[in-house]
Amino acid sequence: MAKEAIGEKLVQELAKRGGEPPARFLQKEENRPTGVSPPASGIPVVDLSRLFEPDSAEVVLQLDSALRTWGLFQVLSDDMPASFLDEVRSVAREFFYLTKEEKLKYKNQTDDGEFKLEGYGNDIVATEDQLRDWNDRLYLLVQPENKRNLELWPDSPSSFRSILHEFTIKLRKIANNILMVTAKLLELEENYFSDQLGEDGSAYARFNYYPGCSKYDAVIGMKPHSDASVVTLLLTDKDVEGLQVLKDGEWFTIPTVPNALLANLGDQMEIMTNGIFKSPVHRVVTNPQERISVVVFYSPNNEKYIEPINNLVTEERPKLYKKVMVKEYIESLFETFAQGKRALDFAK
Ligand code: SIN
Ligand code: FE2
Repeated sequence: MAKEAIGEKLVQELAKRGGEPPARFLQKEENRPTGVSPPASGIPVVDLSRLFEPDSAEVVLQLDSALRTWGLFQVLSDDMPASFLDEVRSVAREFFYLTKEEKLKYKNQTDDGEFKLEGYGNDIVATEDQLRDWNDRLYLLVQPENKRNLELWPDSPSSFRSILHEFTIKLRKIANNILMVTAKLLELEENYFSDQLGEDGSAYARFNYYPGCSKYDAVIGMKPHSDASVVTLLLTDKDVEGLQVLKDGEWFTIPTVPNALLANLGDQMEIMTNGIFKSPVHRVVTNPQERISVVVFYSPNNEKYIEPINNLVTEERPKLYKKVMVKEYIESLFETFAQGKRALDFAK
């Protein structure tokens, strides 16, 4: 049988054609996102500038508790006014609204069907019988800047590259601030995590497009997973919810806060903090209408090794995770994600 061309596999194209989603997208009855997931409560909306002020004790406590339970919180930053966040959402949307041919200039697969890490298309398919997620994405390395593959950065809409550049510069400051606060909460040296990330650490941006779906409760936008990162920053759609987080066996909806970014910790943070701070398992449910998101993952350099920090390993809290190489961990996450398993379980 001839290999299906990548253009035939784009979820956006399937959605345009209408009708039932193909069988490879249909979740087993027991995995379908049925019922209403209550909104996650106790997730603070933290104004970053306030965290460094003398009267911040209460917010700091809320943040500490959120990181130990949910592993995520909403962030407000003066550097990212609502108008700028809207611009980022808008270039993301405009990219996905280009014709299929225009987008495929940046495709993430060779004609032989071999997947490349960066570019536009579907997620890596490990086995043909694998259940697929109802999304298309554009994945780009944004930092370090000298490693960018600019030929994969869309030149349409015309402001795409400059907005993405500006977004990643501003976002890095926020990521570093979050890492500083996180270190302080654990009574570590303030720069502990930001030094781990370092100048040579990587930031990958993932633009997600979840088309509206006629059978939105039978498919999944993105299957349950936790991120490999140290920390992830997300810009979610303004009006359309979809992100859910698992806590104590129950799925909760993350409410959209239009002017905020969502920060979630990733597995590498859970490993380094010896499980004190959580890397939340999350998924994306699909809606009758489309949804977009822009997600940036921060990780130390591929060649580094990470392990639980000595000060956080005690008699009462023995070492939960083994030492892992960043590159190998990320690779194992991609593999386990495709199989619907969790990489963190293999780092124990
Ligand atoms: C993700 O986990 O990267 C997806 C987040 C989202 O679309 O809200
Ligand atoms: Fe994620």
